[in-house]
Amino acid sequence: MDFTPSESQRRVQSSARAFAESAIAPEAAEIDRTGRFPRALLRGLAERGLLAVNVPAALGGLEAGAVAAALAIQEIARACASTAVTASVTNMVCETIAAFGNDDQRKRHCPRLASGDAVAGSFALSEPDAGSDPAAMRTTARRDGGGWVLDGAKQWITSGAYAGVLLVWARHEAPAGQRAKLSCFILEGGARGLSVRRTEDKMGIRGSNTVGLELDGCRVPADGLLGAEGGGFRVAMSALDGGRIGIASQAIGIARAALEASLVRARGRRAPGVPRGDDSWLEMKLADMRARLDAAIVLSMQAAWRKEKGLPFTREAAMAKLAASEGAIRVCGDAIAIAGGTGGLGEDGVERHFRDARVTTLYEGTSEIQRLVIARRSLA
Ligand code: CAA
Repeated sequence: MDFTPSESQRRVQSSARAFAESAIAPEAAEIDRTGRFPRALLRGLAERGLLAVNVPAALGGLEAGAVAAALAIQEIARACASTAVTASVTNMVCETIAAFGNDDQRKRHCPRLASGDAVAGSFALSEPDAGSDPAAMRTTARRDGGGWVLDGAKQWITSGAYAGVLLVWARHEAPAGQRAKLSCFILEGGARGLSVRRTEDKMGIRGSNTVGLELDGCRVPADGLLGAEGGGFRVAMSALDGGRIGIASQAIGIARAALEASLVRARGRRAPGVPRGDDSWLEMKLADMRARLDAAIVLSMQAAWRKEKGLPFTREAAMAKLAASEGAIRVCGDAIAIAGGTGGLGEDGVERHFRDARVTTLYEGTSEIQRLVIARRSLA
């Protein structure tokens, strides 16, 4: 494996970094404070191809691969984790439609997601009683003429109030004693029978929109089924494999921002409370932060590289997400310790990074779920 980015990967990374530093970073603290959805910033990302990095050019994407997609999300998250998760989920939805959709579905939805005309994409899998175990979902899909009718409720749906394209999972009626099969459906924002419920007030990633959705007799036409009828669980798992590299990249960007803030402080003055002449406490902390960050980068590059090469990457993506999100909490905690008395004041963003980092261990599979995936794939 060669860790040197190719020319095209470097171009994507530079373009993401330039936009993140000039346009996203200046708004990040205010987005966090007010919980404002970063709509205009998403448009700017779309103009640079950053909402569909690993999607064929014929569908409006950059066609730059999974490694470039990971690098782009790292750069965006270094500036604003809320904007990064919104972009990451949109990339995931667009890639999933490109991978599992038929020609009509791909041509209809991918260009809208890539161009920003759809604002964002949503991945509506979780439910109030089915978070870690999506197979336990209660939302039903009932055949109706050529199409389906969906009824149920979804929870913790990223961008659910804004998304122009939503992937929605539902279960089919199963004979007693048999596990119900799931299907994945494509809905457009504002579809009849689809309504937005509670907006969550979160500890971190506050500018990302997280809502409940209600499906009340929501009709999906025949061409709204994504992939095979009853094949929805596989669609979800395979989408989440890729999505977890996106969240690992998000956590890496957050941790990098925290480490950079600490390095500025460490270079500028001594850590408060540490006696003069003894830098070892600070050096130990900086070393742990750097090692945790680089371990996460190596694992996520490995996962992205395997994805790009068409190799299995389920376990690698879970390892990347686990190491990056748990590592980011530790890195951000150390950054607060290094900031000392001002660490909780939000002066240089480390307090925001700490709150944002914590949330990355919760979505697209909790850390416990990542451990389950890693262990099962190791035992298999
Ligand atoms: N790719 C393709 N197929 C897969 C797969 C993968 N990664 N993982 C499992 N499958 C297939 C299996 O081969 C199996 O197929 P067969 O029935 O044909 O044998 C089937 O799926 C069932 O597999 P398991 O028995 O392993 O499934 P399980 O019920 O034990 O669950 C799990 C496994 C890993 C715990 C899974 O339930 C899981 O990942 N849970 C977490 C869900 C999650 O991450 N939710 C996040 C919500 S989305 C979100 O957060 C997005 C956002 O907006 C930020």
